[in-house]
Amino acid sequence: MSKPSLSRQVVKRKPVAMLLAEAASESGGLKRALGALDLTLLGIGAIVGAGIFVLTGVAAAKYAGPAITLSFVVSGFACAMAALCYAEFAAMIPIAGSAYSYSYATMGELVAWVIGWDLVLEYAVGAAAVAVGWSGYLQVILKGFGITLPAAIAHAYSAGSGGAVDLPALIIVMIISGVLYVGISESARINSIIVAIKLAAVALVIIVGAFYVRPHNWSPFFPMGWSGVMKGAAVIFFAYIGFDAVSTAAEEVVDPQRDLPIGILASLLVCTLLYILVAGVLTGMVPARMIDLNAPLASAFVQRGLNVLSGVISLGAVAGLTSVLLVLLLGQSRVFFAVSRDGLLPPAFSRVHPRFRTPYVPTILTGIAVAITAALLPIQDIAELTNIGTLFAFVLVCTGLMILRWIEPQMRRPFRTPLVPLVPILGVIFCVYLMASLPGITWARFLVWMAVGFLIYFGYGRYHSRVASSADSELGSGVARSSRGRGL
Ligand code: ALA
Repeated sequence: MSKPSLSRQVVKRKPVAMLLAEAASESGGLKRALGALDLTLLGIGAIVGAGIFVLTGVAAAKYAGPAITLSFVVSGFACAMAALCYAEFAAMIPIAGSAYSYSYATMGELVAWVIGWDLVLEYAVGAAAVAVGWSGYLQVILKGFGITLPAAIAHAYSAGSGGAVDLPALIIVMIISGVLYVGISESARINSIIVAIKLAAVALVIIVGAFYVRPHNWSPFFPMGWSGVMKGAAVIFFAYIGFDAVSTAAEEVVDPQRDLPIGILASLLVCTLLYILVAGVLTGMVPARMIDLNAPLASAFVQRGLNVLSGVISLGAVAGLTSVLLVLLLGQSRVFFAVSRDGLLPPAFSRVHPRFRTPYVPTILTGIAVAITAALLPIQDIAELTNIGTLFAFVLVCTGLMILRWIEPQMRRPFRTPLVPLVPILGVIFCVYLMASLPGITWARFLVWMAVGFLIYFGYGRYHSRVASSADSELGSGVARSSRGRGL
């Protein structure tokens, strides 16, 4: 099979038939046992983490003040627009691989690669941020037992001098990577228990904290004006990341066309409401400038003399953040696996361990890179890089939806995003606005990351792409054929 020219190759789309066939061959036998409620819990399990437990403090103390509640509304709105677009894709192409697979089917190989590379920021870099948050809350628990880690290994938010490292963050990443190496079949039951624990911690903050609110702490409400609200929104956007993880369970859902959109949207809605309440309570309990940057929720309770409850919240946070970490690290190795299976990364990335049946190479490499990142960098820097990458992925998903409506109007859509093109256009505008609210250094890191991605694609991927050398990848035809073939 002769290779297409470069200009044809970069827009070459992967037929949905090919996507679905791969999914079928791999998932053959996967039990379809999940319903809408399981998916919603799965989503909440992946969403509620370092964003609400840690970054709310950073965003309120440094940027938005009590108006952080509005920051949550703005970010939540951007996510809702993107989520509505994700839902249409997820119901139409219900396979693992998420945004990477959707864009390969709609916008072609180069955009797919860009998203796949970009998702490393969401999953791997995001995992590093969660690990740092985990470490902050672990240290609150240890302090409760009178144990204070030496500064050199307890790299905290405000550290950054003296070459301190965050040893607990490094260790938790290595442990979870080890678990993923030997394989873990994510059990919906275990997930439900962890979700219950962390929701209990969040509920505790809201219900008990409400009695300790001093309304004068809410004033001034906008200490840094609207730009503070937007900067805060760009930071706490991190708190919403993960709702797209619901779509990766597509192959285990009884009725994906109905339940995936419900799972994605319901989990996002629940989290948005909880976040707004938590943010209101936190900024009401403690003056914005006195909010702790490492473990703000637990510390707010300590500041009001509620030491035992602070410990309970910290335990909930540590359990909750562990599950987020697991989902993100698992997501990363799956993305590498899918990209490598398409030939855009070396085959080692999709080699399956003979005994454990896991993609062990990307699991190990991701674990090492994430552990080092978490050990050395402050959480805000890591989270901002995660956010810019994820926002960019959302922009591409919203754009992809409009493109697919245009080029494949007939394809059956079990869930239709409402108000197209208004919803995806609003999604693009809000996400770009949030990206623009991030600092120059984050943009510089993002651009360097993307430049490295382009070098890899043009140096390796384009010569090894499987789709480029497959006969069945002519524009459009594959999508239409497959959608009929599968009765979609
Ligand atoms: N949304 C997830 C968190 O806040 C990534 O930890």
